[in-house]
Amino acid sequence: MDYRAQVTNSIMNALNDELSSAVIYEKLERPKDLSMGDLAFPTFVLAKSMHMAPNKIAEDLVNKIDATNYEKVEVKGAYINFFLNKPNFGRDVLTTIIAEGAAYGQNDNGKGGNVPIDMSSPNIAKPMSMGHLRSTVIGNSIAKILTKNGYNPIKDNHLGDWGTQFGKLIVGYKKWGSEEEVRENPIDNLVKYYVRFHKEDQENPELDDEARDWFRKLEDGDEEATYLWKWFREESLKEFNSVYKKLGVGFDTYNGEAFYNDKMDKGINILKEKDLLHESQGASVVDLEKYGLNPALILKSDGATLYITRDIATALYRDKTYNPALNLYVVGSEQTYYFEQLKAVLKEMGVKSAENLHHIPFGLITVNGKKLSTRSGRIILLDEVLDAAIELAGKQINEKNPDLANKDEIARQVGVGAIIFGDLKNERTNNIDFVLEDQLRFEGETGPYVQYSHARAESILRKANNTNYNNSDMLINDANAWETLRILHDFPKVIQSACKDFEPSEIAKYSIRLAKAFNKYYAHSKILVEDQELPARLALVKSVSIVLKEALSLLGVEAPDEM
Ligand code: ARG
Repeated sequence: MDYRAQVTNSIMNALNDELSSAVIYEKLERPKDLSMGDLAFPTFVLAKSMHMAPNKIAEDLVNKIDATNYEKVEVKGAYINFFLNKPNFGRDVLTTIIAEGAAYGQNDNGKGGNVPIDMSSPNIAKPMSMGHLRSTVIGNSIAKILTKNGYNPIKDNHLGDWGTQFGKLIVGYKKWGSEEEVRENPIDNLVKYYVRFHKEDQENPELDDEARDWFRKLEDGDEEATYLWKWFREESLKEFNSVYKKLGVGFDTYNGEAFYNDKMDKGINILKEKDLLHESQGASVVDLEKYGLNPALILKSDGATLYITRDIATALYRDKTYNPALNLYVVGSEQTYYFEQLKAVLKEMGVKSAENLHHIPFGLITVNGKKLSTRSGRIILLDEVLDAAIELAGKQINEKNPDLANKDEIARQVGVGAIIFGDLKNERTNNIDFVLEDQLRFEGETGPYVQYSHARAESILRKANNTNYNNSDMLINDANAWETLRILHDFPKVIQSACKDFEPSEIAKYSIRLAKAFNKYYAHSKILVEDQELPARLALVKSVSIVLKEALSLLGVEAPDEM
C-alpha cells in the first residue's frame, strides 16, 4: 500500500531507464496545496541526461504515463502531479493500519544487525545533568526507532566510573566527609567534597599528590580504595536508577569506564605493533595530522591511561562482542572533536567499527535560561525538574478532569512525557532552553497536546462503542479527512528517514502534524452520526489513535487513553 512506490512505478514504466526507482522514490514531493495533487515528480533531475527543458520533459512524459489508477495526472510547469484515487487510497491506508496495529510502519531494513548505543553515561558521584537527560531520551528513542527498522539495539550505559577524580573524591571524603552524610544524600554530599577539594587545592597543592596516590591505589586494587569506590558507585547508581525509572528507560548493560580498566592492553598493543604511538614530552600520542586533527594523547608521561584509552578498549570489546552493524555514541556536541579523534585513531588501528562509528551529538540544554554545571554549584537536579513537571501536570488534570481515575499515574505519564517530548521535538543539535510551563501546555507543539489528541480519539471510540470499522466503503470526501489520511500514509516513510538521520525530532514533528490534522477534522465534522460513512469515520479515528500512540511510543512517551 505504498503509494509512493506505485507512483514511482508509473514513472519508471514511462521512462527508458534514465533514472533508478530509488532516485525517483526519493525525489517525489508532497505538494503543500491539495490543488497540486498528492504526489509530485519534479522533472529537473532529467534535464541533463535528456538535454531538454524540464517543462518540455514533463509535457512529454505525462502522455506516456498510464493514468488508469489515478484520479488524474497533470502537468504544472516542470512538475507532474499525481492525484490519487481517493476511495482506494483511503480504504487501503485504513485497512492496513487497523490490520497491522502497532506494527504499522515496521520494516526489515536493519536485517537484525546489532547496534550498540552508548547512551546516558552519567558520571558517578556527580548529579545527572540535563545533558545526560538528553543523551538518555535521545538514545532511548533511537533504540526504539532502530527496532522499528529491523535492527537489534543494545543500550549501553557507559558510566563515568573511573578516572583521577576518584582519587580527589576519596581524599575529600576522608578529610571532610562522613558515612552518615553519604548514606543520607549521596550525590549532594559527594559533590560537596569534590567542590571543596577544588577550592582547597588552590592553596594546598599537596592535596593533588594525595589524590593521585589514592587513584594509583585504586588502580592497584587496594582494599580501602576499592571499597570506597564501589560504595560511591552503588549509591550514585541508586539515584540514577530512580531517574531512569521515572523516565521509563532501561539499559542492556552498564559497562562503564571501570569495566575496561583491565582491557586496555589489547588496544595499546595494537597501537605499538602498528607503530602508531609517538613520544611527545614523555607522553604517548597518536599523530592525526592527515585527518587535520591534533595528536591524540593515549598515555600520560607516568603511564596513566585516559578517557580515550578506555574508549579504544570499549570499541574493541563491542566489535568482538556484537559484531555491530552500526556503532552509535549519543554524547553532547562538546565532545565532537574528541569523537573525531577517537574515530581517526580506530581507523589507523584498523578497527572494523571505525567505519560505522557515528557520534550522535546534541546541543546544550538550559532550564529557565540557566546553565547546569557541577563545579559552580548552580545545580538544577534533573530529578527535581521531573518532579516539578509531574506536579504541574497533576494540577492541570485536576482543573480539566477532576474525576479522572488513576490521576497520579496519568500525571506522571503527562509530566514526564512533556519533558521527553519537549526535548525530542527539537533537532538534536539545537540548543534548547526549557521553560517548564511551556512544555506542559495542552495546546501548541507539546507532548501533552499529542497525548491529549490521542486520548480524544480514544474517547470518541469509547462513545461510539462500535468496532465495525471495515465493512463499509471507506469513501471519505472531506478535505480534512483526506489530509489526515495522507499524513497517516507517510508514517512508514518518516520511520525510515528518522532512522537514517538518527533524528527522533522527525517522529515528534510528524506526531504534531498528525495531531493537528486530526483536531482540524474533529473540529469541522460530526463524527458520531449514524449514517453510511460512520464506520469509515471511526476507522479514521481508530487509525489516528494507533499511529499517535505508536509515534509517541517511538519517542519513549506514554499515551494514556484518558487525561
Ligand atoms: N561520562 C561522559 C560524560 O559525562 C560521557 C561518556 C560518553 N561515552 C563514551 N564512550 N565516551 O561526559
